Amino acid sequence: MDKIAELSLEGKTFRLPVVEGSEQERAIDISALRNDTGYITLDDGYANTGSCQSKVTFIDGEKGILRYRGIPIEELAEKSTFIEVAHLIIFGKLPTSAELRRFSDLLTDNELLNEAMKHHFEGFPTHAHPMAILSSMINAASCFYPELLDPDRKDTFVVQTARLLSQVRTIAAFAYRKSRGLPIIYPKPELKYTANFLHMMHSLPYRDYEIKPEAARALDLIFLLHADHEQNCSTATVRMVASSRANLFASAAAGVCALWGPLHGGANQAVLEMLERIHADGDDGSRFIAAAKDKNSGKRLMGFGHRVYKNYDPRAKIIKRTCDELLVKLNVSDPLLDIAKHLEEAALRDSYFVERKLYPNVDFYSGIIMRAIGIPIEMFTVIFAIGRMPGWIANYKEVMEAPTRIYRPRQVYTGPTLNAYVPLKERK
Ligand code: CMC
Repeated sequence: MDKIAELSLEGKTFRLPVVEGSEQERAIDISALRNDTGYITLDDGYANTGSCQSKVTFIDGEKGILRYRGIPIEELAEKSTFIEVAHLIIFGKLPTSAELRRFSDLLTDNELLNEAMKHHFEGFPTHAHPMAILSSMINAASCFYPELLDPDRKDTFVVQTARLLSQVRTIAAFAYRKSRGLPIIYPKPELKYTANFLHMMHSLPYRDYEIKPEAARALDLIFLLHADHEQNCSTATVRMVASSRANLFASAAAGVCALWGPLHGGANQAVLEMLERIHADGDDGSRFIAAAKDKNSGKRLMGFGHRVYKNYDPRAKIIKRTCDELLVKLNVSDPLLDIAKHLEEAALRDSYFVERKLYPNVDFYSGIIMRAIGIPIEMFTVIFAIGRMPGWIANYKEVMEAPTRIYRPRQVYTGPTLNAYVPLKERK
């Protein structure tokens, strides 16, 4: 028998249907609540609101579980690649070898930007943050594909996906080159996705960058671990924009903007800046931890805490291990890694963090890996955006395929009640 929740209001009882997910997550369907009762629900920051039903990613934040299309993140991290995972997330299945080849070829065929886009890069000042360039250029890229503007053109979805996934990497590398006053390096079709990105970032017109396989693998893993994370701020933004039937590129550009903030994707840059500051101050981390616990300091332990995980973020575990292994392989010793480990140990023993269930998240160690493979700090959040693209595309696809209404939350108004317009000369 279907479960029903009962709500008692003003002496009347209302029956609300209960929806159950495939992992037994339960939700009370309140979509008819206002019609039936005149009430809406209020949930500041959507902490307890399911905004959609989705088949892409499952998280159990209490147990520290993350699965893409049912497959545990640990297994994917060990056995798969970013492009295979992108296929899994977007199309719902691991590709066969023929499908993987076709998908990779499609990405290669679509890796070049329209040459006219090069002029757009010229307009940005050299100090422009690459996230600003990335969101603008993804939106600008949409102008070159007029068929995008027809939301009913389902037949072009695969090629649009390939363009976005492939070109986001080209745009990101060009943005970096521009910010350093360096000449643009075109992609090489014979290189794989992540190696190609490193080539475009670091090669020179007269000398190819030597791509270390372990560095390419570590970056590929970072992309893979970021590939989706259910209804986070940027993915919810992408769905919100998509629900108005805006095109895929416009929706993804909005996702980039939402990701930029330091409480979301921008945290990876903020973590490294925090570690650098602690190092420069000669602090072993204790002073910073004390400040992070003090609400008046305006400081937080960046890379710690998560809305959903009340346990160790499973991605952070993988990243921490990779970080240790990579630094040994590259023969790099980084004092920031020691500070990070010390901060983690101290925080996990501290009642402030323990009581609030604050653990390291994906951003805590990823910056140290990126630093070790020569990714500059201002590109960290861009790397997150490249990685998150499959998740945004898959969520966009779900919105377009499901008969969903435009996303339109309500509010509880707390402003002035009926007020008269005062002519300018009578105002005080
Ligand atoms: N340092 C110190 N205190 C913290 C931290 C932190 N990093 N995170 C949360 N708290 C405290 C917070 O002050 C509050 O305390 P109290 O109950 O006394 O008021 C309590 O813990 C709950 O915090 P919240 O802000 O209500 O939690 P939230 O779910 O709204 O925020 C978060 C989640 C990730 C924004 C937050 O933990 C945070 O700001 N962390 C640092 C930034 C960060 O690392 N962000 C990356 C998130 S993972 C990657 C991604 O999704 O982008």
